[in-house]
Amino acid sequence: MDEVLGKPTMISRVLLRLLFLSFTLNVGLVSRLIYEYDHERGSSSLHTTDAEEKQSYTEFCLGEEASKKTRESTTMSTAAADHEAYVSESSPSLSTEAEEDGKEKVVNLDHGDPTMYEQFWQNMGDKSMVVISGWQSMSYFSDIGNICWFLEPEFAKEVRRLHQLVGNAVTRDHHIVVGTGSTQLFQAALYALSSSGAFEPVNVVSAAPYYSSYPSVTDYLKSGLYKWAGDAYSFKGDEPYIELVTSPNNPDGFMRQAVVNRNGGVVVHDLAYYWPHYTPITYLANHDIMLFTVSKCTGHAGTRIGWALVKDKEIAKKMTKFIELNTIGVSKDSQLRAAKILQVVSDSCEHLNSREDSKNFFRHASRLMAERWDRLRDAVRQSGLFSLPEFMPESCNYFGEANTPHPAFAWSKCEGGIEDCESFLRGYNIITRSGKHFGAEAKYVRISMLDREQTFNLFVKRLSNISL
Ligand SMILES: Cc1ncc(COP(=O)(O)O)c(C=O)c1O
Repeated sequence: MDEVLGKPTMISRVLLRLLFLSFTLNVGLVSRLIYEYDHERGSSSLHTTDAEEKQSYTEFCLGEEASKKTRESTTMSTAAADHEAYVSESSPSLSTEAEEDGKEKVVNLDHGDPTMYEQFWQNMGDKSMVVISGWQSMSYFSDIGNICWFLEPEFAKEVRRLHQLVGNAVTRDHHIVVGTGSTQLFQAALYALSSSGAFEPVNVVSAAPYYSSYPSVTDYLKSGLYKWAGDAYSFKGDEPYIELVTSPNNPDGFMRQAVVNRNGGVVVHDLAYYWPHYTPITYLANHDIMLFTVSKCTGHAGTRIGWALVKDKEIAKKMTKFIELNTIGVSKDSQLRAAKILQVVSDSCEHLNSREDSKNFFRHASRLMAERWDRLRDAVRQSGLFSLPEFMPESCNYFGEANTPHPAFAWSKCEGGIEDCESFLRGYNIITRSGKHFGAEAKYVRISMLDREQTFNLFVKRLSNISL
């Protein structure tokens, strides 16, 4: 009976096992397919993201037009793919060592990326090194007794020390507010100086040619507190205003003063370039609000640290509030790094006019700038198609001698009937920023003088050979 009954049971058991095996195999197969489909989709969407990221990076580096050109050329041919490689190489952080000028290599001098100082900092070796352990810099707070409660005392100390040594700005009786670059401080100042109870947003003006970021940074959030009102020279209303005075000026390098000078106005002094390597230090600045940044002073743009010297306590409080609402403070790690960098610069000031004078950061940078400006003027002379601003020497309180300004940007004008200088230079694969962005004519372009040596070499070489 068992045997009779056992046979079908055995068969059904075998069948059951086979069924189970087939089910398991199918489930495995289906999950594999799903996994592979997802993976494929994931990686292709990843590729898309990469491509998009690369795209927006290229746009940031080269501007939309050049990036479009790059996109078009990439889809056109293999040779064009090489061109894209050229474009990538020429982007700020990826410049090659190539000195040869086949004219294909894009020379990008659109941004004021201060990479020319890398060499100095490489030579400094470990002196400028900062080590931060995992347990350090953890709290939100740095100095709770201070108006700017996220200001690292070490950074504040080095800011005061450097200004004292250089003699470019008063820090006594001023509050220090630290920001994520002076770009954040500029917005904090607008917030602090405008009134939340006002009917209309306050007008923000700056004399043309003005720093090209002012209009967009002022208006990108369409604030109800402030609005961009253009060139300060043509500001005629009797409404309240905030005037931005950039001195030395970006883009043209001239020292500046407020131009509106009317009741109901306040002035913010952007002194990003008021350092001895760009211009003679002729006076001790003592304005109500002064903005500085390590980006242009020492070249550490990537550290994203700026500072404001603010006379009025309430304004300093409001600026601090803005940063609290915006980013709950400023990276401590960056502040500590900036403190170290400023300390090294101040220490290097001891070498001024000694036998080791060239170890002085400002002396080193100022010689480099002077040499670059000489070479640029030579190239412009050879080409005959451009003109540059002329600067008179003035006595510099820091170097104790007469010096000529050597601005961070060359504000160049195309001569010979060329109306669109940016496009003209783009034709030679030289990327600059059109005067249009600075409230000026398209005959002008701004050219960064702060790029790496190889890029600058290629630029002057190419420029000197341009003729009509
Ligand atoms: C006049 C001026 N102010 C501010 C900035 C921005 O500095 P940061 O890098 O500290 O945001 C720049 C940068 O080019 C500048 O030219």
